Amino acid sequence: MTTRAHLIDQVTARRVWDSRGRPTVEAEVRLGGGAAGRAIAPAGASTGSGEAVDLRDGGAAFGGYDVTGAVRHVEREIGPALRGHDAADQAGLDRALADLDGTADKSRLGGNALIAVSLAALHAAAAAAGRPLWRHVLGDRPARLPLPEIQIFGGGAHAGRRVDVQDFMVVPVGASTFAESLDWTADIYRAAGVRMAEAGRLSGVADEGGYWPAFDTNEEALECLVRAIEDAGRIPGDEVAIALDVAASEFGSAGRYRLGLEGRDLDGDGLAELLIGWLDRYPIVSIEDPLGEDDARGMQRFTAAVGDRVQIVGDDYLVTSARRVERAARDGACNALLVKPNQAGTVTETRAAFDAARSAGYGTIVSARSGETEDVTIVHLAVGWGAGQLKVGSFSRSERMAKWNEGLRIESALGDAAAFAGRAALGGADPAARSLA
Ligand code: PGA
Ligand code: ZN
Repeated sequence: MTTRAHLIDQVTARRVWDSRGRPTVEAEVRLGGGAAGRAIAPAGASTGSGEAVDLRDGGAAFGGYDVTGAVRHVEREIGPALRGHDAADQAGLDRALADLDGTADKSRLGGNALIAVSLAALHAAAAAAGRPLWRHVLGDRPARLPLPEIQIFGGGAHAGRRVDVQDFMVVPVGASTFAESLDWTADIYRAAGVRMAEAGRLSGVADEGGYWPAFDTNEEALECLVRAIEDAGRIPGDEVAIALDVAASEFGSAGRYRLGLEGRDLDGDGLAELLIGWLDRYPIVSIEDPLGEDDARGMQRFTAAVGDRVQIVGDDYLVTSARRVERAARDGACNALLVKPNQAGTVTETRAAFDAARSAGYGTIVSARSGETEDVTIVHLAVGWGAGQLKVGSFSRSERMAKWNEGLRIESALGDAAAFAGRAALGGADPAARSLA
């Protein structure tokens, strides 16, 4: 039933600040009945070239990162165009946003302007329905808390390229609840910090809160991670496994890769061989963007070689695009999708990529960006969509902890009805085990 109470009355925007101290877009959507929603656009640093455009002013202000143009687009164009739209009709609303922008890459109004408004409208609809966002999206289906991937060391574009690999993460595959997975992670994060301090290598944290990776080789970080899992009293592999985000597009293209830390040049086969060697020696269950975003053949070959034993995640490679997921599934590249709403630009397009991944039997990981804020919407989407996995960075800095803590709140609200996705959520495992209850 549509009443005036559900119709959008006003859309506003302002410039707020993200975890790197850069400007970003916050949007607010107010409905006729008084319900309101608010959301903030995140921002990537190691972005895929196929992402919706994060519209910045350029020029001198704030290093060119200012978003006064995107904010103005919300106030002057998007707001008036959405007035009178039914907030409960997310698909219609998102179509209107995309049509208004009129470009394939959302470069006219800005993907940052669009995603902030799209998510804020979803919040407003949930508020009008009087339900938490995760429940509004999930409906009456059973809820499942996602298996987290938590960064312990941050590298690549998030740490001045101190090591080549971008994320060294833990995955608490043996935990029985979301809360327990965070308990284990807290001990591992602390243990890793103690190890770094004892080695005289503790020098703060990278963009997503993982320790600054003062290592001599990429593999030394893997070694240290396994030791930290053991120091924390957990069994590597059985209880806590490892996930990597190689983010290979950051150090290679056209089949040539340069490992800066080790001074090595590799072709696609060489990089794949190096990574498969790590898979053989370390309890790695997930590997993201192992080859460059332009290396479809490399991704297909890598998936054919190890896709039956490890999750292969497309982030820069798939950029939350349904079309790209469908193509990858046809070609045999990847077996999991990283789901970043701001790569797509609207909730509906994000959901379409998610659905395409599900149809292909892929694992799905809802993900934050390296530039984040207190906004916790993605945690609600991860539960509401039954994504099975969640990646929001490390176990420090409140733009990260806000998300983990929101997961705890949802798990408490569910009480005995709270299920935990666990190991079965990983792509490359039996797809039937991943299907929504
Ligand atoms: P980004 O990195 O947010 O800087 O793009 C995150 C990732 O690559 O997963
Ligand atoms: Zn990535």
